[in-house]
Amino acid sequence: MTVLTSALDPNDPEYRANREAMLVKLAELDAEHAKAVEGGGEKYVARHRGRGKLLARERIELLLDPDTPFLELSPLAAWGSEYTVGASLVTGIGVVEGVECLITANDPTVRGGASNPWSLRKALRANDIALANRLPCISLVESGGADLPSQKEIFIPGGAIFRDLTRLSAAGVPTVAVVFGNSTAGGAYIPGMSDHVIMVKERAKVFLGGPPLVKMATGEESDDDSLGGAEMHARVSGLADHFAVDEQDALRQARRVVARLNHRKAHTDPGPAEPPKYDTEELLGIVPGDLKSPFDPREVIARIVDASDFDEFKPLYGTSLTTGWAALHGYPVGILANARGVLFSEESQKAAQFIQLANQRDIPLLFLHNTTGYMVGREYEQGGIIKHGAMMINAVSNSKVPHLSVLLGASYGAGHYGMCGRAYDPRFLFAWPSAKSAVMGPQQLAGVLSIVARQSAAAKGQPYDEEADAALRAMVEQQIESESLPMFLSGRLYDDGVIDPRDTRTALGLCLSAIHTARYEGARGGFGVFRM
Ligand code: COA
Repeated sequence: MTVLTSALDPNDPEYRANREAMLVKLAELDAEHAKAVEGGGEKYVARHRGRGKLLARERIELLLDPDTPFLELSPLAAWGSEYTVGASLVTGIGVVEGVECLITANDPTVRGGASNPWSLRKALRANDIALANRLPCISLVESGGADLPSQKEIFIPGGAIFRDLTRLSAAGVPTVAVVFGNSTAGGAYIPGMSDHVIMVKERAKVFLGGPPLVKMATGEESDDDSLGGAEMHARVSGLADHFAVDEQDALRQARRVVARLNHRKAHTDPGPAEPPKYDTEELLGIVPGDLKSPFDPREVIARIVDASDFDEFKPLYGTSLTTGWAALHGYPVGILANARGVLFSEESQKAAQFIQLANQRDIPLLFLHNTTGYMVGREYEQGGIIKHGAMMINAVSNSKVPHLSVLLGASYGAGHYGMCGRAYDPRFLFAWPSAKSAVMGPQQLAGVLSIVARQSAAAKGQPYDEEADAALRAMVEQQIESESLPMFLSGRLYDDGVIDPRDTRTALGLCLSAIHTARYEGARGGFGVFRM
C-alpha cells in the first residue's frame, strides 16, 4: 500500500495552536487582498460606475465561461510600496470558450489605470506565463499609460510589453486586445501589437497623441473621436477588427474571437481524479507558528495528491528531503519536500538523481519548501557540501520538465535556490502565509553582523559598544523578519501569490492544467558538469 498514513490529531493542542496561528495570518492576508479588490477606493469606483463602466474584475467575470475558476496571480503586487496594492492591474488564468487564457485587465480606478513599476513587473510576469505555457493572452485595456512621476523606472524597460506581444504572436500564441477606454501614446501599441482588436463605441481612445499634443506638434485642431475613436478605427484606420456597441458586447465578441482561435492543448485532460483521503482543512494545523519546530511534509503531501497515494523514492537515504511520485488532479508529479530544515550532501545527491529521473520520464516536479539551507561546519565542508549542493542546483537549473514551487515554511539561503526558488524559473511559485524567505534567518543574520562588527572593532583596537550592539541586533532582526514575510515578498513579485493552504491542491491543479497546454520534454542530457 502506498497510501500515506497520517499521525495528525486535530485534538492535539499543538495542532490547534498551529491552526490558530495560521488563521490569524490568513485573516491578515484577507485584509490585504481586500485592498487589491477595492482598487482606487470608493470615490473612484463610484465615479467609474457613474460613467456606466464595469470594474476590471467584472469585465473578467463576463469574459470567462460561467462557473469556471479564475486563478488570480500576484494580487499583492506593490504591497509595502507607495503604490496601491494590486498595482492597478489584475492578471490571472481563466477559461474562455473552453480555452485556458492568460487575462490582464487594467484597473482604471487606480490613478486612471496608469502603469507604475510594479504594474510593469506584473504585466511582464503575465507575459512570461503566457509564453511558457502557450496561453492565449487577452488584454482588457483602459489605462492612462505610464505613471508619469515614475516614468524613469518604466519608460525604457516598459518597451518589453510590446515586444512580448509580438513575440507571443510569432510563437503562435494568440493575442487579443479589448479596448474599453484610454489606450494612448505607448499604450496604443497594446492593440497595435495584438492579433485581434475589439473597441468599444464612444469609449475607446487609441491615438499616439491626443488633441493637445497634436496642437503643440503640428498646430492641427482635432478631437478624440477623429484621432482614435472606435468608429474611426473600425471604419477608417482598420486598427479595430471588431466594433462593439458597449462593454458587454465587446466581451461577447472577445469570447467569439477565442472560440474561433482553434487553439489546441498539447496534452489531453486526464479527467476526474480521486481526491486525497484526508481532509484538506487539516492543512491549517501542520506548519508550526514557530518555524524552528520541524513538521513532516508527508502530512501535506497526503492532503494534496490524488488518493493520498505517494511512492517514496530512497526513503531510507538522505531523510531530510522526502522525494517521491504521485499524481495531482490526474497529472503525474515528482515531489521534493524538505522534511527537516537542513540539506546535507546525501539529500543533495538524492535530489539530483530524482530530478534526472523525472526528466527521463517527462514528469513535472513539485518543490515543497521548508529549508534553512545547506549544512555548514568543518565536517560538512570537508565532506563536499558545496559540490553536492552545486549538483542539486545544476540539476534544478538544467531540468526541462515544468517546475512548481510552494513555500510552506522556511526557504533560506542556497536552499531556496536548490528547491527551485524564483530565479530558477518555476512555471509557478506560491507561498503559504507561514512562509519566510531570506538569505538566512533574522537572528542568524543579526548575529553574523554583530560578530563581524566586533571583529572589526578588535582589529582597530577600539572598544566595542555592547549596548549599541544589542540595539542594532534588535533592529536588524526586526527588519529582516519583516522583509522575509510572504506579503512583502509577494509585493515585490517574488512569487505568484500567497495562497490559503486549503487551496493548494486546486491552485496547483489549475497550474498543471495550464502547463499542459504546451508541449514539454525532459532533459535527456544537457546538464552542466556534475562535480562528483
Ligand atoms: N500618471 C500618473 N497619474 C495619472 C496618470 C498618469 N499617466 N493618469 C491619470 N493619473 C491620475 C490623475 O492625476 C488623477 O489623480 P487624482 O485623482 O489624485 O487627481 C487620477 O489618476 C485619475 O485621473 P483622472 O484624469 O481624474 O481620471 P479620468 O478617468 O477622468 O481620466 C485618463 C483618465 C487616463 C484619461 C487621464 O487621466 C489622462 O489622460 N491621463 C494622462 C494620460 C497620458 O498622457 N499618459 C501618458 C502616456 S505614456
